[in-house]
Amino acid sequence: MTSKVLLGRKTFFSATRALAIQGATVEANKAVFGKAYRLHGHGYMAEAFYAGNIARDDGMIVNITELKPFLATASAYFDGTYLNDLVEFKDAPPTLENLVNCFWNHLPSELGSGQLQKLRLDESPRLWAIKTTDAMYLTRSYDFCAAHRLHAPNLPAGENERRYGKCNNPAGHGHNYTLEVTLQGDPDPRTGQLMPLPALDQLVEETVLERFDHRHLNEDCPEFADLIPTSENLARVIFDLLNPLLETPQSNLAKIGLHETFKNYFEVKR
Ligand code: NI
Repeated sequence: MTSKVLLGRKTFFSATRALAIQGATVEANKAVFGKAYRLHGHGYMAEAFYAGNIARDDGMIVNITELKPFLATASAYFDGTYLNDLVEFKDAPPTLENLVNCFWNHLPSELGSGQLQKLRLDESPRLWAIKTTDAMYLTRSYDFCAAHRLHAPNLPAGENERRYGKCNNPAGHGHNYTLEVTLQGDPDPRTGQLMPLPALDQLVEETVLERFDHRHLNEDCPEFADLIPTSENLARVIFDLLNPLLETPQSNLAKIGLHETFKNYFEVKR
């Protein structure tokens, strides 16, 4: 047994904050941080992952009993605080990206036979950051509804029915899609973000949501004039639409994830 195993352990804390660039006007801060320029709070979930070889003597990578105090200490450092008061955020806004970096520094890089591999920090079900040993990712999620019909014009009717079943219904059917957009990069030292969230939201709104939300993909969307609107194809189309627009000096598009249903998930990586 030589292959490494990954272990995750969660902890929770809540804190308040206001995001602002020092010396910037309210209007400028609104543009960069949206409503988060105002005082507000979040219940955070942090999950630390250690990877390592299973120790022969006790069958563990990291003894969770030894990991717990580190997570408890890190959590307690932030829990119930006004984050802006912490020394780490005197000159840097307590964005999710800066916060995950700061939390990471509270964790031992090695414990037992495991190495700290990644740390996930969720600010809401809509926004989370993942820091790894060599990269930072930020994921934002969005919803849209659309109808489609799965039908391959080059296949005979019987074959369409066989492959697509109910999804071949001539009038189509609909889904509530959830789209996850993941950026990768380094936080801007001034804003503490991979990209201003209002700008990301506006870009996804204009590029994806306005295009596909409450549309019939086959009937209304020229992208699918000659392309079967399976979720594989939809995920690929969305990635290709967003990819050139999300190239900034700070970050780029790492992947998109598309939940077609609660059960079906599709992903396109850079
Ligand atoms: Ni479908």
